[in-house]
Parts: sequence; structure tokens; C-alpha cells
Amino acid sequence: MDSFKKYLTDYQQIINEMLFSYVRDYTYPGRLQEAMLYSIEAGGKRIRPVLLLSTMEALGAQHTRGYSVACALEMIHTYSLIHDDLPAMDDDDIRRGQATNHQAFDEATAILAGDALLTLSFQVITEDVNLTSEEKVYLVRELSKASGGTGMVAGQMEDMLSENKQISIDVLKSIHVNKTGRLLSFAITAGAYLSHPSDQSLGELTKIANVLGLIFQIQDDILDVAGDAGAIGKPVGSDEVNSKSTYPKILGMEGAIKEKEQYVDIALQSLDKAGVNATSLSRLIGYLSSRDR
Ligand code: IPE
Ligand code: IPE
Ligand code: MG
Ligand code: MG
Ligand code: MG
Repeated sequence: MDSFKKYLTDYQQIINEMLFSYVRDYTYPGRLQEAMLYSIEAGGKRIRPVLLLSTMEALGAQHTRGYSVACALEMIHTYSLIHDDLPAMDDDDIRRGQATNHQAFDEATAILAGDALLTLSFQVITEDVNLTSEEKVYLVRELSKASGGTGMVAGQMEDMLSENKQISIDVLKSIHVNKTGRLLSFAITAGAYLSHPSDQSLGELTKIANVLGLIFQIQDDILDVAGDAGAIGKPVGSDEVNSKSTYPKILGMEGAIKEKEQYVDIALQSLDKAGVNATSLSRLIGYLSSRDR
């Protein structure tokens, strides 16, 4: 296994252990807990929590203090996927290599499992004995802003409204920044907040945070056209079926790749100037951009 793959796997293992125990340890109605665990245990790349912990590591901080917020972020991401797949939204049947939550259970259960994961995220941050009250308030506030109607949910609404429409690349950019960028950028800003960086480091990390969602979602759009369904663990061609606005649709495949590479350059230039231990973050940025799953 190459060293970056091992780095990812090691972090994924830490996150999974914590995440599973958070969802298993509370008492919920059996069917609700089963549905929550069904999507949480299905895997997923855990890219958002890894990014949060890597940012702390790059700034020389003790990353164990980021565990609860990293898991909270993954819970919100997982809830967003459960709801994204619902018939009223993207109406998809496969996620993380298995039947989507509403297919395995039913729509009502999937909606409630998503709701419960969303709210559990705030609970685990506020119950973390290793964080100060001030840190908890900051993290819950910023996570709410990144997730809700000023963040990911706003992007999902705009994404729905853009179906069957011709929109400009600037409008699409703002959709991607909200629906995908805000949770990814929270990973960096929360990791930085817990690590007390210099102004210079924080400034450059913020610039990276602002383009990561674009890099990630452009690649997601590309994989929806040219990916391998087995590898990505979800259907290929879903965007076409739903007449979504995407980068390959507006710019063509080559244009989409070029645009993504420009954002990668911006991110790597900022990383160079950030004055942090950059090795893992740099490999993570490369991975987000060139991943095949
Ligand atoms: C998929 O996210 C949804 C998008 C925001 C593009 P991921 O590609 O991170 O999905 P998992 O968590 O690995 O399943
Ligand atoms: C969804 O974007 C982003 C979310 C907020 C869940 P997509 O609809 O493109 O994500 P996938 O392709 O279904 O994972
Ligand atoms: Mg969608
Ligand atoms: Mg979708
Ligand atoms: Mg997609």
C-alpha cells in the first residue's frame, strides 16, 4: 500500500470507530437506528473528516480534539446523501455500493434517519468534554451556517431549481460552492480554528477552503459522465436523467477538466504560502481532484 493510501486508511479507521460508536451508543427506535447505521456503516471516503484532521495535523495541533466535530461533519454529509437520493430529489437507487436508504427501508424512514443524523451531529459536539464551551458554540454555529439554508441546503435548493434550465457557469459555480463547497470548507476552517494558526496560515488555508468544493464537485460531475458505476458506488448518468446543470454539460468535458485544474493550481499555490506542514494536504488536494471514486 502506498504511503498516502495508508495515511487515508488509518484516518478512515479512526473516524469509522468513533462514528459507529456515536450512532450505536444512543437508544433509538430499532428501525430508526438500523437505517442510520445502514448508511453510516456503508463506508464512504470520509474525505471531510480526514480533511479536518489533516488540517489540524498540518498546523501541528493534537488532532484528537477534532474527533467529535469531524464525526459531526460526516453525519451531516451522510444525511445530505440520504435526502439527495430520495425520489423527490435525485431519485437514485444505489449509494455507497448498496441500495439507497429509502430503497432498503422506505421513504419515511430515510427522511427520519437523515433528520436524526443531522441533529446527532450537534449533540456530539456539545457533549464533547474535551472542547471548551466557547469552542462548542463556535463550531455549532459555523456548522449550522455551512449546512443549512445559507449553505449546503441552499445549494441543494438551487440545484433543484436549475434542472431543465440553461444557466451560466457563474450561477453553476455558486450552486457548487453551496451544495458541496460549504461542508468541505468547514472541514478546513474548523480544523484551523481548533489549531490556532497564524494570520498568514489562516488566510491561505481559507483560500484553499474556498476552491476545494469546486474541485470536488467538478470531479463528481465528471465521474457522473465518465466514471465507473462499480467504483463510484452510485449510478453513472444520474445528472443526465435529471437534466441537471453540470460542468461537463456547460463547458464540455475538456473545459470542465481545465477549469478544475485551474482551481487545483490556486489551492496548491496557497498551500505553498501557508507555512504549514503541507505534504498530506497537498496529496489530499490531488486526490480530491483526480479520484476515480
Ligand atoms: C458525494 O460525496 C456527494 C457530493 C457532495 C459530491 P462523496 O463523494 O464524498 O461521497 P462518499 O461520502 O464518499 O460516499
Ligand atoms: C449532491 O450533489 C451534493 C449534496 C449536498 C448531497 P450530487 O447530487 O451530484 O451528489 P451525488 O452525485 O448524488 O453523490
Ligand atoms: Mg443532487
Ligand atoms: Mg445526487
Ligand atoms: Mg453527482
